[in-house]
Amino acid sequence: MAAPRRNIELKASDPEPERSLAVVKGLGAHDKGLIRQRDTYFRVHKGRLKLREEDPGGATLIQYDRVDADEARESQYRLTPVEDAATLKASLEATLGVLTVVEKERHLLLWQSVRIHLDVVKGLGNFIELEGVATADSDLALELERVTRLTEALDIVPERILRNSYSDQVVGSSALVDAARDVMQRAHAPYSNYKVGAALRAEDGSIHVGANVENAAYPQGQCAEASAIGAMVAAGRTRITEVAVIADSDDICVPCGGCRQRLREFIAPAAEIHLCARSGARQTTTLEALLPRSFGPEFL
Ligand code: THU
Repeated sequence: MAAPRRNIELKASDPEPERSLAVVKGLGAHDKGLIRQRDTYFRVHKGRLKLREEDPGGATLIQYDRVDADEARESQYRLTPVEDAATLKASLEATLGVLTVVEKERHLLLWQSVRIHLDVVKGLGNFIELEGVATADSDLALELERVTRLTEALDIVPERILRNSYSDQVVGSSALVDAARDVMQRAHAPYSNYKVGAALRAEDGSIHVGANVENAAYPQGQCAEASAIGAMVAAGRTRITEVAVIADSDDICVPCGGCRQRLREFIAPAAEIHLCARSGARQTTTLEALLPRSFGPEFL
């Protein structure tokens, strides 16, 4: 298998793009011009997969994996040039489904081995992205040093740093709710007729879903949250950053006591939990509010 490429990455909002451009040009960055990019993100179980179509340029299938963090962090990725973008997109859409589409105009500059992206993302605004591209044998120290130097020169304060990908920003919580609603339709709930769907966002941005699965031997039934947690763990993820739970009901679905504890095992402290009803009504809460003074792995 081809080894992934690596880089050190940092993404931040950019309230003053003209100033950022002047700063990086002042440091001697090479201007590589403007590129229009259209990224189609597919629903995957692990990491991220997107088809990038560029103008000027062609199409590339990009697979990458990166942990959400509010500092410069390593990203591993593979790029595959694509000749027939339309057919590949149709195949991936038919099998995996599309998560979202992100369109942007990118001003690309190069400084040492760092790619500097001044991005105007449709519907989101202006951002700056720094990618310290690593050679195969690098220990990433040099790339981190260069990205840190640029971060300082650009006055990028921690509050401006984005933890996750543009797709997560565009998708927002509504995609999570959509995913929960979608899997809810496939619940096996012939006894209670109370169909539930749960969707979990993991730390790498991937979404994992589950529905309740009832059984004629009633106690063997399983809640939607438990199914979704099983799917997430099977996909190799153990950190939940956001949750949506929905029932095919007029009332908002609240997780049962057992599921609160199940979520407690994996959930990030600041994670939002969206409790939803069929109508689209929604209440957002946290695990701390649902299960105060809870017991967790840190007690053991
Ligand atoms: N249910 C869930 O899937 N999650 C919850 O948190 C509440 C309850 C399911 C279990 C059962 O299949 C049905 O709802 C009625 O209790």
